[in-house]
Amino acid sequence: MKIGADTPAVITGGASGLGAATARNLAASGAPVLLLDLNVEAGEALATEIGGTFIQTDVTDGDQVAAALKGQAPRICICCAGVAPGARTVSRDGAPHDAAMFERTVQINLMGTFHVAAQSAAQMAALPPLDSDGTRGAIVMTASVAAFEGQIGQIAYGASKGAVTAMTLPMARDLAKSGIRVNTLAPGLFKTPMMEGLPQEAQDSLGAAVPFPARLGDPGEFASMVRHILENDMLNGSTIRLDGAIRLAPR
Ligand SMILES: NC(=O)c1ccc[n+]([C@@H]2O[C@H](COP(=O)([O-])OP(=O)(O)OC[C@H]3O[C@@H](n4cnc5c(N)ncnc54)[C@H](O)[C@@H]3O)[C@@H](O)[C@H]2O)c1
Repeated sequence: MKIGADTPAVITGGASGLGAATARNLAASGAPVLLLDLNVEAGEALATEIGGTFIQTDVTDGDQVAAALKGQAPRICICCAGVAPGARTVSRDGAPHDAAMFERTVQINLMGTFHVAAQSAAQMAALPPLDSDGTRGAIVMTASVAAFEGQIGQIAYGASKGAVTAMTLPMARDLAKSGIRVNTLAPGLFKTPMMEGLPQEAQDSLGAAVPFPARLGDPGEFASMVRHILENDMLNGSTIRLDGAIRLAPR
C-alpha cells in the first residue's frame, strides 16, 4: 500500500507515545490522520501539529468507537491504545488478583483493539480496491513481548496482549477476501510516557538489559516499522517482535 492522501488512517492511543509517533510518520506523507484517545489535551495538540483530527474516544465502548468512525472510510487502522497495570496472581498479603483490574486491562487492550479493528475493517471492506491485488486497507495492532514472556505481575497485561497476538491470524484470514491485511507488532521496551513513569535509574537498567542496541527503543523506530508493514503487501497475519533481542526475565 502506498501511503498518501488517499489512505486515511485511524490511530488509537494516538495522543501519546507509539501512537503519536506513528501519527507523525503517516501524516508526513500526506495521509489524513484521525486520532482516537482519552487524552483531549494531548490529542488536540497533536492533531493541530500534524493537520489531523482528534476525537475523544474510549476504545472500550463500541458505541463511542462507532460514533468516532462514522463516515471516516479509513484505509489504515493502527491500534496503540493500551494500559500496563501490574498486580500478582496472589498479592504479598495473600489477596487474589483484583478481578475488576484484570477485566479493565482486557477491556482496553483486547476489546478496545477488537472494536476499532473490526469496525474499521467493515468500513474498509465497503471501499473500492486501491490496486490490482485488490488491497482495500491494512490493520496494525500492538501487542507486547509480554504476550510471550509476561513478567511477575503481568498476568492481566500478558493475557490481554497474548489475545491480541492470537487474534491476528484469524482476523487476517477473515479479511483476506476483502483485501485487508492484518499484522501485530510486539514491542520490547520503548521510551514513551508509559515507560517514562518509571524512575530514570529503572529506565537505564531496563535499557541496559537489551542485548543490542542496549537502550530503550525510540517511538520513531516503532513508527517506521508500522510504516514498513503498511507498505509491504506480502506481510500478513504475523506478529513481529521489535525488541533488540530482549527476552523478558521473570522480574
Ligand atoms: N512503551 C513500551 O515499552 C511498550 C512495550 C510493549 C507494548 N507497548 C504497547 O504499546 C501501546 C502504546 O503504548 P505507549 O508506550 O505509547 O503508551 P502511552 O501511555 O504513551 O500511550 C497510550 C495511549 O493510550 C491511551 N488510552 C488508554 N486507555 C484508553 C482508552 N480506554 N481509550 C482510548 N485511549 C486510551 C492513553 O490515553 C495514551 O494516550 C500500548 O498498547 C502498550 O501496551 C508499549
